[in-house]
Parts: sequence; structure tokens; C-alpha cells
Amino acid sequence: MTQRLTIAIDGPAGAGKSTCARRLAARLGYRFLDTGAVYRAVTLAALRAGVDPDDAHRVAELARDARIVLEGEGPTGRVHLGGEDVSIEIRGPVVTALVPTVAAHEPVRTAVIPFQRDYAAGGGVVAEGRDMGSVVFPDADLKFYLDADESVRAARRAAERGETDVAKVQVEIGARDKTDKGRKTAPLVCPPDAERIDTTNLSLDVVVEMLLARVQARAEAPRN
Ligand code: DC
Repeated sequence: MTQRLTIAIDGPAGAGKSTCARRLAARLGYRFLDTGAVYRAVTLAALRAGVDPDDAHRVAELARDARIVLEGEGPTGRVHLGGEDVSIEIRGPVVTALVPTVAAHEPVRTAVIPFQRDYAAGGGVVAEGRDMGSVVFPDADLKFYLDADESVRAARRAAERGETDVAKVQVEIGARDKTDKGRKTAPLVCPPDAERIDTTNLSLDVVVEMLLARVQARAEAPRN
């Protein structure tokens, strides 16, 4: 497979995007772009700087200046902010609660677009988030939208976190999806040219094989 494709994967929390995107990238020898991690790192930068997460312009300034580095190629990608490994902290409850607010600001989203496009320059990347196919990489070679029933997504998230109260997690991800889908700028949508895959009754191993088959077919298709 010689073509180095840009592959966009979007969908709500717990649909299997991160796991599948990371595994797909590893199988293809591609880079993995975890854009949720970028918004999480920006949120942490705001918290540390004492900047109000509602202050779109100040948070956007921080987003432009923040030194965020993703080391995503391995099975466990790391995220660095200003040279410090913040991989654990950005997944904690404080950042998780505030990141939808930060990610909803138009100036913040505009500020992180160049970072995402630079990371993907030259192709050979699997980019995962909420607006990959719709806004950041509208010309992606392949676009997927992963979805699953909310209860299944909540159960997956709870298992990841070792949380036993699945109902609580379901309320949390329901609220987060509502913010992500309802915001004015770059809301979570299934792009019209994306393939929608319902992962409710599929193991993520099966989903990865499905994605790989699509990539293989696309890479072998004659170019126009
Ligand atoms: O995928 P995640 O849970 O790490 O995403 C964290 C938050 O960032 C979530 O509220 C959605 C938002 N996000 C976004 O708005 N756009 C992206 N491309 C990626 C994530």
C-alpha cells in the first residue's frame, strides 16, 4: 500500500473512535492524531494559567501559545504540555468536566486548526475527533462516523475508568454529547460523505478489520 491516506474518524464519546483509530494507525504504520487530547491539553493550560474557561479569547491565546506535543504512534500515546507529560491529568474529572466548554469556543477551534493540519501534513494519518471530516480535513481520503447506543457507550467508558456506576457515566456522556452536537461552531455531525458504522453489537477488533478493509480498497482503487 503506497498511498499515504488521510483518514478521518468522528463520533460521540464511547463509540470506539480512539481505540479503533489508534489500532488502525498502528496496523497501517500511520500517525494517530487524537484531537480530543488537544482540546483537553488546552483546557488544562487554561486551568493552570488561572484563565476562565468561559473567556474564549484568552483561552484561544493560550491555545496558540501552548506547546502541545502528541506522541501518538505507540499503543499508549502520550501528551506533553510545555514539556511536561500530562497524559493522565488531561483524562481526570476536572478537565473532563470543562473540556466541552473550551471546545465550544469558535476562537479556540480556529486556533487549533493549524496544529491539527500540520500534524497531518503529507498524509499517512488517522485523525480522530468530532469535526475531522466536516471541518478540519474536509478532503480526507476516507471518512468514518462511529456510533453506538448510549447505554453501550456508557458501559464502555465505565469499564475504561473502572467505574461501577454505569448510569452515572451515561448521564455524563449524554450531557457531553448534547454540548458537542448542539454548539454553534463545528458541532458533532456525521458528514454526508462519511460511512456510518454502528458499533453497538460489534467488537472493536471487528470494527478495526472493517476499517482496514475500506482502507485497502481505497488505496488500491485507481486514482482519477
Ligand atoms: O474525545 P475526547 O473525549 O477526548 O474529547 C474531549 C472533548 O473535546 C469532547 O467534549 C469533544 C471535544 N472535541 C471536539 O470538540 N472536537 C474534536 N475534534 C475533538 C474533541
